Amino acid sequence: MKNILVVGSANMDLVMHTARMPQPGETITGGRFMTTQGGKGANQAVAASRLGAAVTFVACLGADAFGAQHRKSLADETIRLDSLKIDEELPTGTAVILIAQSGENTIVVAPGANNALLPQDIEAIEHEFQSADVVISQLEIPLQTVETVLYLSRKHHTLSVLDTGPACPLSPALLSMADIVSPNESEAETLTGIHVDSLESAQAAAKCLRDMGAAHVVMKLGSRGCLYVGKEEVYQPAFPIQAVDTTGAGDAFTAALAIAWNTIPLKEALAYANAAGALAATVAGAQPSMPHSATVSAFLQQQKGFSFAPHG
Ligand code: RIB
Repeated sequence: MKNILVVGSANMDLVMHTARMPQPGETITGGRFMTTQGGKGANQAVAASRLGAAVTFVACLGADAFGAQHRKSLADETIRLDSLKIDEELPTGTAVILIAQSGENTIVVAPGANNALLPQDIEAIEHEFQSADVVISQLEIPLQTVETVLYLSRKHHTLSVLDTGPACPLSPALLSMADIVSPNESEAETLTGIHVDSLESAQAAAKCLRDMGAAHVVMKLGSRGCLYVGKEEVYQPAFPIQAVDTTGAGDAFTAALAIAWNTIPLKEALAYANAAGALAATVAGAQPSMPHSATVSAFLQQQKGFSFAPHG
């Protein structure tokens, strides 16, 4: 069983399913509302735990009802929360998500307490980096905090995975501190200036990220699958699915990649991550959609030529 340390955000997702996206100034009725626990960090922690890892989650929540709900649901997922920070002033992070019938979504995040997770909080829990096999971080917490996470991962020779969502320009110095850099198409465009809308443009963007210092690039290409570019290049097509809600699908992918990396052959690890992401897109909501290990294994067994899993 891998020990995975996830450092990142926790948001309460306020989700509205709507027939179509409203125009500016327009009111549309007939929506369907749900609240679910979300935030890229928390989603990845839940996904990694459901996929069979021993997970420690480090985040900052507000001292409010959303924060309390998060603590309970993360504990119910058997995620270790010993180093969780509570900010007495700021509210727990919140995301307002609109999902149209077409599958298109828009997300606005109010980071709140996520912005109070500071470099010194990470330095204070340096011991967590010694016991972890993999450290996962994303960009919904302050960038200096992410830098500290990557610095301590490198110091303790712990594999680091940097999920570059949400899109934000990053320096070559930061990119070269992460062992694996994993952007989606729009994040890759923000990082490299290359518009990614085909396998060829994805290859060009991944090579550009390598030139900027990233050692291993794993690009999430949605319905096109994923692409690894390191010393070699491996493309893994997506599994065909009927997507209901893609919110959190990238988070399931990142968690599955962290679990499968160096455990099974690279092409199988990419397929495993694709399967977890695909399954997450078939269920509404972020954390409710994170698949369990048995579900991913069963899904892979149904796909011709796939009969592997990191846990055998
Ligand atoms: O990656 C999906 C997540 O992005 C949502 O859960 C939302 O909270 C935003 O952070």
